[in-house]
Amino acid sequence: MKNVLVTGAAGFVGSSLAARLAREGINVIGVDSLTDYYPEYLKRANMEYATSYGANIEVSDLMDADVDKLLDGIDVIFHQAGQPGVRPSWGADFSKYLDANVLVTQRLLEAAARSTSLKSFVYASSSSVYGDAERYPTLEVDRPQPLSPYGVTKLAGEHLSVLYAKNFGVPTVNLRYFTVYGPRQRPDMAFTRFITRTLAEMPISIYGTGRQVRDFTYIDDVLDANIAAGGAAIQPGTIVNIAGGSNTSVSEVITLIEKLSGKRPLAEHLHAVPGDVHQTGGGVDAAIAMLDWRPKTKLEDGLLSQIEWLSTRVGLYRDIV
Ligand code: UGA
Repeated sequence: MKNVLVTGAAGFVGSSLAARLAREGINVIGVDSLTDYYPEYLKRANMEYATSYGANIEVSDLMDADVDKLLDGIDVIFHQAGQPGVRPSWGADFSKYLDANVLVTQRLLEAAARSTSLKSFVYASSSSVYGDAERYPTLEVDRPQPLSPYGVTKLAGEHLSVLYAKNFGVPTVNLRYFTVYGPRQRPDMAFTRFITRTLAEMPISIYGTGRQVRDFTYIDDVLDANIAAGGAAIQPGTIVNIAGGSNTSVSEVITLIEKLSGKRPLAEHLHAVPGDVHQTGGGVDAAIAMLDWRPKTKLEDGLLSQIEWLSTRVGLYRDIV
């Protein structure tokens, strides 16, 4: 891997990945359209983090960017860009999800099919494609049945990625991430909200009972999985779960935050939100076999890193979580 393109390079996973690859001496081109899903100053801070290691990031929208030019000489694409968020994907905003998660992915895949230098196209998929899964741990062969419009668009992007592999030999690998957390996590996600508000002594909101379970996955493990996938010689179109193995409920996370931060979260219960699945939990045998990847970070260790990182940034986050 020498010349890579990271899309969504101002986002949580994209900026972390761009920084890590650039730090390893790889030539990293990044692209991001700085959508308004969360404040631009946080995205600019993410970009600065990646550029401080040598990544070159341009601000442009993949809906109309010259993608052939962007892919010139690129051997690996890490397609992390997208419209995130399970719960806000209902209603009028659905068109943003269609554009960013389906149409942009199709544009990039078309350009990838024309590329003469490309060796790997890593697509950031999501555990949300499973919805309320058939069984736990959920395996890649299980029937995807998303519960949110967001999940529908991530699954559509993934299906396109598989189609371009089958029909045109585009070397795609689809990583189904399970609720990624750690430093730089998006401000709308549970851990950033819970930690920031606890440190700021503001009440936190629990959607529903708090008994919903997530297979939380630490950011560094997700970066390792991307690097393994970008360099792997595996069947184009392969789908792989990237799951942290934590299987912990939201209530248990809140107890852990109290233990690790020494501050008591002030919790209030709100109604459950449509689209929120009861449980996620991914089997990782395919990742072990095909990518030699397994999660290394225990929830307690990863959560402590995120608490430490946020503890010096409460002022940046407290008004937007
Ligand atoms: C996350 C990401 O937001 C998606 O982009 C990603 O695709 C998805 O993981 C995935 O794994 O596929 P989610 O699991 O909803 O989605 O992540 P969080 O926002 O961290 O929420 C975790 C749980 O905490 C959810 O059950 C949510 O309802 C709950 N929560 C969240 C609260 O109770 N209160 C809050 O203030 C925020």
